[in-house]
Amino acid sequence: MTEAGYRTGLVDLAKGQISREIFVNDEIYVQEQERLFARAWLFVGHESQIPNPGDFFVSCMGEEGVILCRDRAGQIHVFLNSCRHRGMKVCRYDEGNTPVFTCPYHGWSYSTDGKLVGVPYFREAYHGALDRSQWGLVEVVQLCNYKGALWATWDPTAPSFHEYLGDFARYLDLSLDSWDGGDGGIEVLGGIQKWIIPCNWKFPAENFSGDSYHNISHRSVDLVGIGPSGSGRRDTRERELARRLQVSFYERGHQTGVYVLPSGQPIPLAYAHSPVVSEYFAHCEEQRRRRQGEWGRVIGSPGEVFPNIALHPRQPRTIAVWHPRGAHKTECWRWYFVDKAAPQQVKDFLRDYYIRYSGPAGLTEQDDMENWNYAHAASRGVIARRYPYSYEQGQGYERDNYEFDGLRLPGTVMDITEAKSSEHNLRNLYRRWAEFMEAESWDELATWRRGDQNHGIVRAAE
Ligand code: FES
Ligand SMILES: [Fe+2]
Repeated sequence: MTEAGYRTGLVDLAKGQISREIFVNDEIYVQEQERLFARAWLFVGHESQIPNPGDFFVSCMGEEGVILCRDRAGQIHVFLNSCRHRGMKVCRYDEGNTPVFTCPYHGWSYSTDGKLVGVPYFREAYHGALDRSQWGLVEVVQLCNYKGALWATWDPTAPSFHEYLGDFARYLDLSLDSWDGGDGGIEVLGGIQKWIIPCNWKFPAENFSGDSYHNISHRSVDLVGIGPSGSGRRDTRERELARRLQVSFYERGHQTGVYVLPSGQPIPLAYAHSPVVSEYFAHCEEQRRRRQGEWGRVIGSPGEVFPNIALHPRQPRTIAVWHPRGAHKTECWRWYFVDKAAPQQVKDFLRDYYIRYSGPAGLTEQDDMENWNYAHAASRGVIARRYPYSYEQGQGYERDNYEFDGLRLPGTVMDITEAKSSEHNLRNLYRRWAEFMEAESWDELATWRRGDQNHGIVRAAE
């Protein structure tokens, strides 16, 4: 496989076709680890999971296990969960609190700021000669606490997380700010749900990038009515009131769906339920509109931060990461968020709704997994993999500088209010994927610094 083949041969945006090889080829999978997961910014957790000194949460960055922890001075760190002596996992718990991480193999121990502080028989066996200062835990080279969400990268040449996001930050905020539009006042609810599915990680990544076409999959859930008001799977009155858009960031690889209400249209009530719940959300929506002005007309819908972090800003409010576990396996982790300041009744209500919607037991997510798993299995054979997938939907109808009723939206926008669906956001995921797979350095990847890329965009409608 030549590297130049990623953009032209495997991801052919001019034709709107993508080779099945990128999903099922083991060699491509190995290259992804180096080119994507070792270079991109990845989500590792939320600060509310480690509020006190000594708190830790064991997370993942690609295939790599990491420890997210808060040291004695309150500083947050992300370390590779691998002992420097012979590689054993130094932490085998999912989460907890500890003064030191002691390796179970030979007993080296590390303080919560990563320093090697204990070496059995240091004086006798090493004759006091081991330079312990050189053997601390391996730490990520860049870490960013963005509104409580913790992001890290192994690449010292990667741009800052803020630059990596660009104007997509405004859309990410729809997941991270509290419901009333306040700055990041959310916390993780309960534990993290983790489960394994037999498909390539890009199947869920693509779906959450904005697969607006698969409603047929959720027909049964819609009929059962798992939404809080008992109709459909969510309470989404914005569907009838707002423009429905797909927004892509060509140079970043991030994308999301949004609804944009007409000017002057009140934000529809998020959840009609018991009086406490309904009043809480009504109050929050009012505050949000007051705080954010015209931007308050934007209502979040699923999206992705490149490469594998899925956003579900509301109904339910979650973040998922699709950890690669070989070309044919993905470990899914889902975090559930609530407003820190919400009344307990609201948190309980959301917990019930989240559980029946998302995760391995959630009815909606089960529908999706069934599709990804069988699609992957049916694409692996020597005959099947000769035939590309089609990504032609809506090609050429995207718009820069999109404006609706006086509100200009950052990103390249596809208005699917009338069209119902497009594969605009999906193409964007693979556009960036191919760039990452080909680029030798972050100099090449930071195209926004040069402003000279056309990203293989085909504008049929112009
Ligand atoms: S592997 Fe950790 S002390 Fe030997
Ligand atoms: Fe779905």
